[in-house]
Amino acid sequence: MLICPKCKSKLNKVDNTYKCPNNHSYDISKYGYVNLLLSKTNAGDSKLMVDARCAFLEKGYYLPLAKKLTSLLSNYINKDSVILDGGCGSGYYDSVIENTFPNIIGYDISKDAVTKAVKLNKDLLYFVASSNDIPLESASIDCIINIFTPTFANECARLLHDDGILIIVSPKDNHLIELKKLIYEDAYLNEENIPVFNNFDLVEGSECISQSNLNKVDLDNLIKMTPYFYKTSKENLDKVNNVNTLNITFAFNIYIYKKRTNY
Ligand SMILES: C[S@@+](CC[C@H](N)C(=O)[O-])C[C@H]1O[C@@H](n2cnc3c(N)ncnc32)[C@H](O)[C@@H]1O
Ligand SMILES: [Zn+2]
Repeated sequence: MLICPKCKSKLNKVDNTYKCPNNHSYDISKYGYVNLLLSKTNAGDSKLMVDARCAFLEKGYYLPLAKKLTSLLSNYINKDSVILDGGCGSGYYDSVIENTFPNIIGYDISKDAVTKAVKLNKDLLYFVASSNDIPLESASIDCIINIFTPTFANECARLLHDDGILIIVSPKDNHLIELKKLIYEDAYLNEENIPVFNNFDLVEGSECISQSNLNKVDLDNLIKMTPYFYKTSKENLDKVNNVNTLNITFAFNIYIYKKRTNY
Protein backbone atom coordinates (compact mmCIF):
# COMPACT_ATOMS: atom_id res chain seq x y z
CA MET A 1 0.00 0.00 0.00
CA LEU A 2 2.95 2.35 0.65
CA ILE A 3 4.46 3.87 -2.47
CA CYS A 4 7.89 5.32 -3.15
CA PRO A 5 7.86 9.10 -2.65
CA LYS A 6 10.40 9.49 -5.50
CA CYS A 7 9.00 7.33 -8.34
CA LYS A 8 5.53 6.41 -6.95
CA SER A 9 6.08 2.64 -7.47
CA LYS A 10 4.92 0.19 -4.83
CA LEU A 11 7.20 -0.27 -1.84
CA ASN A 12 8.00 -3.77 -0.60
CA LYS A 13 9.25 -4.48 2.89
CA VAL A 14 12.45 -6.49 2.95
CA ASP A 15 13.74 -7.01 6.50
CA ASN A 16 14.05 -3.52 7.96
CA THR A 17 13.86 -1.62 4.69
CA TYR A 18 11.14 -0.56 2.28
CA LYS A 19 12.33 -0.85 -1.35
CA CYS A 20 10.82 0.02 -4.73
CA PRO A 21 11.65 -1.70 -8.06
CA ASN A 22 13.81 1.33 -8.97
CA ASN A 23 16.13 0.71 -6.04
CA HIS A 24 15.00 3.58 -3.87
CA SER A 25 15.10 2.39 -0.30
CA TYR A 26 13.90 3.66 3.05
CA ASP A 27 15.07 2.12 6.31
CA ILE A 28 12.80 1.58 9.26
CA SER A 29 14.28 3.72 12.06
CA LYS A 30 15.24 2.40 15.46
CA TYR A 31 11.99 3.98 16.67
CA GLY A 32 9.95 1.72 14.37
CA TYR A 33 8.75 4.09 11.66
CA VAL A 34 9.80 4.72 8.07
CA ASN A 35 10.58 8.27 6.99
CA LEU A 36 9.05 8.88 3.53
CA LEU A 37 9.54 12.63 3.57
CA LEU A 38 11.98 13.64 0.85
CA SER A 39 12.85 17.06 2.21
CA LYS A 40 14.58 17.66 5.50
CA THR A 41 12.23 19.88 7.46
CA ASN A 42 11.50 20.99 10.98
CA ALA A 43 7.84 21.41 10.08
CA GLY A 44 5.19 20.05 12.37
CA ASP A 45 5.02 19.89 16.13
CA SER A 46 8.23 20.15 18.14
CA LYS A 47 9.25 17.60 20.78
CA LEU A 48 8.10 20.00 23.51
CA MET A 49 4.61 20.25 21.97
CA VAL A 50 4.39 16.52 21.27
CA ASP A 51 5.45 15.57 24.82
CA ALA A 52 2.96 18.04 26.33
CA ARG A 53 0.12 16.82 24.06
CA CYS A 54 0.91 13.21 24.90
CA ALA A 55 0.98 13.85 28.67
CA PHE A 56 -2.27 15.81 28.44
CA LEU A 57 -4.13 13.31 26.26
CA GLU A 58 -3.18 10.32 28.39
CA LYS A 59 -5.22 11.87 31.23
CA GLY A 60 -8.33 11.14 29.16
CA TYR A 61 -9.69 14.70 28.78
CA TYR A 62 -10.35 14.10 25.07
CA LEU A 63 -11.74 10.59 25.53
CA PRO A 64 -15.30 11.87 24.87
CA LEU A 65 -14.09 13.06 21.45
CA ALA A 66 -12.34 9.75 20.71
CA LYS A 67 -15.52 7.86 21.65
CA LYS A 68 -17.74 10.18 19.64
CA LEU A 69 -15.53 9.69 16.58
CA THR A 70 -15.68 5.91 16.99
CA SER A 71 -19.44 5.99 17.23
CA LEU A 72 -19.80 8.27 14.19
CA LEU A 73 -17.46 6.00 12.21
CA SER A 74 -19.76 3.04 12.90
CA ASN A 75 -22.40 4.72 10.71
CA TYR A 76 -20.11 4.89 7.69
CA ILE A 77 -17.50 2.10 7.73
CA ASN A 78 -17.11 -1.48 8.93
CA LYS A 79 -14.47 -3.24 10.96
CA ASP A 80 -12.44 -4.22 7.88
CA SER A 81 -12.28 -0.64 6.60
CA VAL A 82 -8.91 1.06 6.31
CA ILE A 83 -8.62 4.34 8.20
CA LEU A 84 -5.84 6.85 7.58
CA ASP A 85 -5.05 9.21 10.46
CA GLY A 86 -3.44 12.23 8.78
CA GLY A 87 -1.35 14.45 11.07
CA CYS A 88 -1.79 11.73 13.69
CA GLY A 89 0.34 13.38 16.37
CA SER A 90 0.98 10.93 19.18
CA GLY A 91 -1.69 8.52 17.87
CA TYR A 92 -3.99 9.03 20.86
CA TYR A 93 -7.26 8.78 18.92
CA ASP A 94 -6.02 5.68 17.08
CA SER A 95 -5.46 3.94 20.43
CA VAL A 96 -9.20 4.30 21.16
CA ILE A 97 -10.61 3.86 17.64
CA GLU A 98 -8.56 0.72 16.94
CA ASN A 99 -10.57 -1.23 19.52
CA THR A 100 -13.48 -1.06 17.07
CA PHE A 101 -11.71 -0.45 13.75
CA PRO A 102 -8.32 -2.20 13.85
CA ASN A 103 -7.02 -1.25 10.38
CA ILE A 104 -5.52 2.16 11.03
CA ILE A 105 -2.50 3.71 9.31
CA GLY A 106 -1.06 7.02 10.48
CA TYR A 107 1.47 9.61 9.45
CA ASP A 108 2.70 12.96 10.61
CA ILE A 109 5.29 15.40 9.37
CA SER A 110 6.86 15.50 12.86
CA LYS A 111 9.25 12.64 13.62
CA ASP A 112 8.78 13.26 17.34
CA ALA A 113 5.03 12.78 16.95
CA VAL A 114 5.40 9.58 14.91
CA THR A 115 7.90 8.21 17.45
CA LYS A 116 5.24 8.58 20.14
CA ALA A 117 2.50 7.09 17.96
CA VAL A 118 4.57 3.96 17.21
CA LYS A 119 5.24 3.53 20.93
CA LEU A 120 1.57 3.91 21.84
CA ASN A 121 0.12 1.68 19.10
CA LYS A 122 2.73 -0.99 18.41
CA ASP A 123 0.52 -2.99 16.04
CA LEU A 124 -0.27 -0.06 13.68
CA LEU A 125 1.73 1.23 10.71
CA TYR A 126 3.07 4.78 11.03
CA PHE A 127 5.30 6.77 8.72
CA VAL A 128 6.68 10.29 8.41
CA ALA A 129 5.17 12.23 5.50
CA SER A 130 3.41 15.45 4.62
CA SER A 131 -0.31 15.73 3.96
CA ASN A 132 0.33 17.44 0.62
CA ASP A 133 2.09 14.35 -0.80
CA ILE A 134 1.00 11.16 0.96
CA PRO A 135 2.99 8.09 -0.13
CA LEU A 136 0.04 5.70 -0.40
CA GLU A 137 -1.62 4.08 -3.43
CA SER A 138 -4.61 5.86 -4.96
CA ALA A 139 -8.06 4.54 -3.96
CA SER A 140 -6.62 2.48 -1.11
CA ILE A 141 -8.34 4.11 1.89
CA ASP A 142 -11.93 4.01 3.20
CA CYS A 143 -11.76 6.86 5.70
CA ILE A 144 -9.36 9.72 6.38
CA ILE A 145 -9.40 11.54 9.71
CA ASN A 146 -7.81 14.97 10.14
CA ILE A 147 -7.93 16.09 13.76
CA PHE A 148 -6.65 19.66 14.30
CA THR A 149 -4.35 19.36 11.31
CA PRO A 150 -4.37 20.85 7.79
CA THR A 151 -6.44 19.05 5.12
CA PHE A 152 -5.20 18.76 1.53
CA ALA A 153 -8.45 17.81 -0.17
CA ASN A 154 -6.96 16.76 -3.53
CA GLU A 155 -4.66 14.24 -1.85
CA CYS A 156 -7.55 12.97 0.27
CA ALA A 157 -9.72 12.53 -2.84
CA ARG A 158 -6.92 10.63 -4.59
CA LEU A 159 -6.46 8.24 -1.68
CA LEU A 160 -10.11 7.51 -0.94
CA HIS A 161 -12.28 4.87 -2.59
CA ASP A 162 -15.26 6.32 -4.44
CA ASP A 163 -17.50 5.90 -1.39
CA GLY A 164 -14.77 6.97 1.03
CA ILE A 165 -15.28 9.54 3.78
CA LEU A 166 -13.20 12.37 5.17
CA ILE A 167 -13.62 13.47 8.79
CA ILE A 168 -12.33 16.83 9.96
CA VAL A 169 -12.25 17.87 13.61
CA SER A 170 -11.71 21.53 14.50
CA PRO A 171 -12.22 23.70 17.60
CA LYS A 172 -15.60 25.28 18.28
CA ASP A 173 -15.74 29.00 19.05
CA ASN A 174 -15.62 28.49 22.84
CA HIS A 175 -12.92 25.80 22.93
CA LEU A 176 -10.55 26.58 25.86
CA ILE A 177 -12.33 29.91 26.41
CA GLU A 178 -11.54 29.95 30.17
CA LEU A 179 -7.82 29.59 29.44
CA LYS A 180 -7.98 32.43 26.93
CA LYS A 181 -9.90 34.65 29.38
CA LEU A 182 -7.20 34.04 31.96
CA ILE A 183 -4.39 34.96 29.57
CA TYR A 184 -5.89 37.78 27.51
CA GLU A 185 -7.94 40.77 28.60
CA ASP A 186 -9.69 40.79 25.23
CA ALA A 187 -10.19 37.04 24.83
CA TYR A 188 -11.90 36.37 21.52
CA LEU A 189 -14.04 33.45 20.36
CA ASN A 190 -12.53 31.20 17.64
CA GLU A 191 -13.98 31.64 14.18
CA GLU A 192 -15.97 28.60 13.10
CA ASN A 193 -15.63 28.14 9.36
CA ILE A 194 -17.05 24.97 7.86
CA PRO A 195 -14.38 23.77 5.41
CA VAL A 196 -15.65 23.72 1.80
CA PHE A 197 -14.02 21.58 -0.92
CA ASN A 198 -14.79 21.17 -4.61
CA ASN A 199 -14.26 17.39 -4.42
CA PHE A 200 -16.18 16.60 -1.20
CA ASP A 201 -19.78 17.07 -0.01
CA LEU A 202 -20.52 17.70 3.66
CA VAL A 203 -22.90 14.94 4.77
CA GLU A 204 -22.98 15.37 8.53
CA GLY A 205 -21.95 17.92 11.13
CA SER A 206 -21.67 16.99 14.76
CA GLU A 207 -20.08 18.36 17.91
CA CYS A 208 -18.49 17.17 21.12
CA ILE A 209 -18.50 19.41 24.19
CA SER A 210 -17.23 18.61 27.68
CA GLN A 211 -15.79 20.40 30.70
CA SER A 212 -13.08 19.35 33.13
CA ASN A 213 -11.31 20.78 36.13
CA LEU A 214 -7.59 20.87 35.34
CA ASN A 215 -4.77 20.93 37.88
CA LYS A 216 -1.48 22.84 37.49
CA VAL A 217 0.35 20.05 35.64
CA ASP A 218 -2.48 19.51 33.16
CA LEU A 219 -2.84 23.26 32.57
CA ASP A 220 0.89 23.51 31.91
CA ASN A 221 0.70 20.68 29.35
CA LEU A 222 -2.43 22.14 27.77
CA ILE A 223 -0.86 25.55 27.21
CA LYS A 224 2.33 24.00 25.82
CA MET A 225 0.41 22.04 23.19
CA THR A 226 -1.41 25.15 21.92
CA PRO A 227 -0.09 28.05 19.83
CA TYR A 228 -0.78 30.40 22.78
CA PHE A 229 2.42 29.19 24.45
CA TYR A 230 4.48 30.47 21.54
CA LYS A 231 2.75 33.76 20.91
CA THR A 232 1.99 34.92 24.45
CA SER A 233 4.22 37.12 26.63
CA LYS A 234 5.88 35.60 29.70
CA GLU A 235 3.82 37.99 31.83
CA ASN A 236 0.57 36.56 30.46
CA LEU A 237 1.80 32.96 30.65
CA ASP A 238 2.62 33.54 34.33
CA LYS A 239 -1.10 34.11 34.93
CA VAL A 240 -1.59 30.40 34.15
CA ASN A 241 1.25 29.40 36.50
CA ASN A 242 -0.45 31.32 39.29
CA VAL A 243 -3.69 29.30 39.34
CA ASN A 244 -3.99 25.88 40.96
CA THR A 245 -7.07 24.65 39.11
CA LEU A 246 -9.24 25.89 36.27
CA ASN A 247 -12.47 24.57 34.83
CA ILE A 248 -11.98 24.31 31.07
CA THR A 249 -14.42 23.86 28.19
CA PHE A 250 -13.37 21.48 25.41
CA ALA A 251 -15.57 22.00 22.36
CA PHE A 252 -15.11 20.49 18.92
CA ASN A 253 -16.85 20.46 15.56
CA ILE A 254 -16.80 17.19 13.65
CA TYR A 255 -17.47 17.44 9.91
CA ILE A 256 -18.04 14.34 7.79
CA TYR A 257 -17.62 14.54 4.01
CA LYS A 258 -18.25 12.08 1.19
CA LYS A 259 -16.04 12.12 -1.86
CA ARG A 260 -17.75 13.60 -4.89
CA THR A 261 -17.48 11.13 -7.75
CA ASN A 262 -18.09 13.65 -10.53
CA TYR A 263 -15.82 16.55 -9.67
C1 LIG B 1 -2.50 20.10 16.73
S1 LIG B 1 -1.56 18.67 16.34
C2 LIG B 1 -2.82 17.39 16.32
C3 LIG B 1 -2.25 16.00 16.41
C4 LIG B 1 -3.28 14.88 16.46
N1 LIG B 1 -4.14 14.87 15.28
C5 LIG B 1 -4.10 15.01 17.72
O1 LIG B 1 -5.19 15.60 17.64
O2 LIG B 1 -3.65 14.57 18.77
C6 LIG B 1 -1.26 18.93 14.60
C7 LIG B 1 -0.41 17.83 14.00
O3 LIG B 1 -0.36 18.01 12.58
C8 LIG B 1 0.97 17.79 12.16
N2 LIG B 1 1.13 18.47 10.87
C9 LIG B 1 1.14 19.79 10.62
N3 LIG B 1 1.28 20.03 9.30
C10 LIG B 1 1.35 18.80 8.69
C11 LIG B 1 1.49 18.37 7.33
N4 LIG B 1 1.60 19.24 6.32
N5 LIG B 1 1.54 17.05 7.08
C12 LIG B 1 1.44 16.15 8.10
N6 LIG B 1 1.30 16.50 9.39
C13 LIG B 1 1.25 17.81 9.69
C14 LIG B 1 1.82 18.33 13.30
O4 LIG B 1 3.13 17.82 13.30
C15 LIG B 1 1.01 17.87 14.50
O5 LIG B 1 1.40 16.59 14.96
ZN1 LIG C 1 11.22 4.57 -6.21
